[in-house]
Parts: sequence; C-alpha cells; structure tokens
Amino acid sequence: MCRLWLAPLRGVTIRAFRETFAEAIREAGFAGAFAPFIPANPGIRVNDRLLADLQPFPNEAASSLPLVPQVITKHPDAMRTLLRAFRERGFDRADLNAGCPFPMIVRRGRGSGLLRTPDVLETLLAAGCEEMGPGKFSLKVRLGVESPDDLRALLPRINRYPLAALTVHARTARQMYGGEVDRTRFAEILAESTNPVIYNGDAELGHLDEVPNGVAGVMVGRAFVRALGARTDAGNLLRTYIARSQKELCGDVPVVGRMKELLTYWCAVPRWHRLWPVIKLCRSVEELLSLNF
Ligand SMILES: Cc1cc2nc3c(=O)[nH]c(=O)nc-3n(C[C@H](O)[C@H](O)[C@H](O)COP(=O)(O)O)c2cc1C
Repeated sequence: MCRLWLAPLRGVTIRAFRETFAEAIREAGFAGAFAPFIPANPGIRVNDRLLADLQPFPNEAASSLPLVPQVITKHPDAMRTLLRAFRERGFDRADLNAGCPFPMIVRRGRGSGLLRTPDVLETLLAAGCEEMGPGKFSLKVRLGVESPDDLRALLPRINRYPLAALTVHARTARQMYGGEVDRTRFAEILAESTNPVIYNGDAELGHLDEVPNGVAGVMVGRAFVRALGARTDAGNLLRTYIARSQKELCGDVPVVGRMKELLTYWCAVPRWHRLWPVIKLCRSVEELLSLNF
C-alpha cells in the first residue's frame, strides 16, 4: 500500500502550520507528517523549547495526524539523548536527516554530509534502531552529495539495519531543490533496498498513479503547500495562522516573516500573485491584515 506523507519543511510545515491546516492535510489523504529537523549536539539540553514543535495540539482532531520527529546530527550519543526524549513524549518513531543540502551543514558532516562518512552514518543507524527498536527508525536521504551514485554505493551498509523507511529525495545535494529528479537512479535504489522506500521530490498531488511501482510511500512537501493557496478558505486559514503565530512568537517581525515564507508558495496563485508586491513590503501584522485577502 502506498502511503502519502507530508514532508518536513523547516519554517513552513511547523506545528502552528500543521494545526491550522490539519483539515486540509487530512483531506489530502496524508497518513502522517514528518516534523522539521531538531539538532542533536554534544551536551544537548533537551527541554520544552527544543521540542516545542512536537507539542500536542489542544484540539484533538488536529492531533490525530501521526507525527514522526526528525533529528539532524553526526553524534550518536547526543542523538540517543534526543531519541529518548522523543520516546518519553510518546513518539514511537523517529527519522534521521541525511538529506539537508546546505553547504555549511554538509561541510560539518551533517545532513547529506553523512553520505560522505559511511562509518558515522552506520553508527547512527545502529544507535537509532537500538533506541527506537527495529522498524521504528528511518532515514531520509539524497541520491548523493555531488554524485547521484553515492547512495547506491552505501546501500549494502544501510540494508544491514531494519528501518521503518528509507525516504529518498531523488536529487543530489548539489541540485538543492531544483532540476530534474533522477528516476533511473531512484529505481535502482528501490530495487536494491531491503527496507521500504518512500519516494520524494517529484510528486504532485493528484498524480500518485504516476509514482514508481513498488514504493511504500510518497512524500510531498512544496506541492501541497502551494495547493493550499488555491483553496477558497485560504484567506481565513491565513488569518487563523497569523493569530496562532502571534500567540507563539514575540512581536510582529517573526510573525510577518513566517507568513511571507508561506506566501512565497502561494504567490503563484492569481489571487495571491496580485497581492504579492504589497505583501513583500509589509512590516507589521496590522499591514498584513489590512490587505483584502
Ligand atoms: C524550506 C524547506 C525546508 C526543509 N526542511 C527540511 C527538514 O527540516 N528536514 C528534511 O528532511 N527535509 C527538509 N526539506 C526537504 C523536503 O522535506 C523535501 O525533501 C523536498 O522539499 C523535496 O520534496 P517536495 O518537492 O515534495 O517539496 C526542506 C525543504 C524546504 C524547501
């Protein structure tokens, strides 16, 4: 059975977003969501602030969407500490980010930089499977850093671990978020992985029949966020998102910044496209709310 997963988009598919758009997420048929990454560093202090994105919602209906927390790290002990905190908060699954393409992260050996240090990656997989249990830890990867063959070369080592899933964003880190996905390389990974594979980076909602045969799931991020902007209730939902963010953040600047981040996805929709030049100039919540959306 092919399941649909909401992709983690840091700064976008955050808690307040998942709560505000819970109904739309459910309507779109998502089986669950992966939360944006949380860093695990040595000497990590795991407190409510670090885990704020994972807090349950007061509204039970919004809470019903299963959530998989994600860690970004190269430190097995720090990761274990964070995974234990996930478990203490009731999460029985966790995901490791080996896909983040940002050069500073990659240079420091985290995110897709883990593809360059197979021994570290293996230590993390062993620790993750031990902490969470077999079939409860997963890995999200790119095809490679520079070369689309990195992941394939590592697959025999990844196959040693009983993962819940191997999510493959079928681009290299070098490609960042643009350019063609490599379906041929993805098909090779799918054929050779002993773990269930989730396809990511290519899917438009409504075209799930076009995904490669044999995938266990499809992960969709940007296409879903863009589609929200075309809903007739998008304006009302945006107002709710603003109000919720005002309660959570301090001052107008971060709230307006968060809304602009979302609206960069919506501005391809004619209604938002018209407003976009004005939205870009907004500095306060009052200015934003005064627009006729
Ligand atoms: C703004 C932004 C933030 C992202 N944050 C994360 C993250 O926290 N963890 C992660 O594994 N991937 C992250 N990604 C990658 C997405 O989860 C996904 O792999 C990528 O966007 C391709 O899928 P899509 O075309 O369906 O969006 C991020 C992508 C974007 C554009």
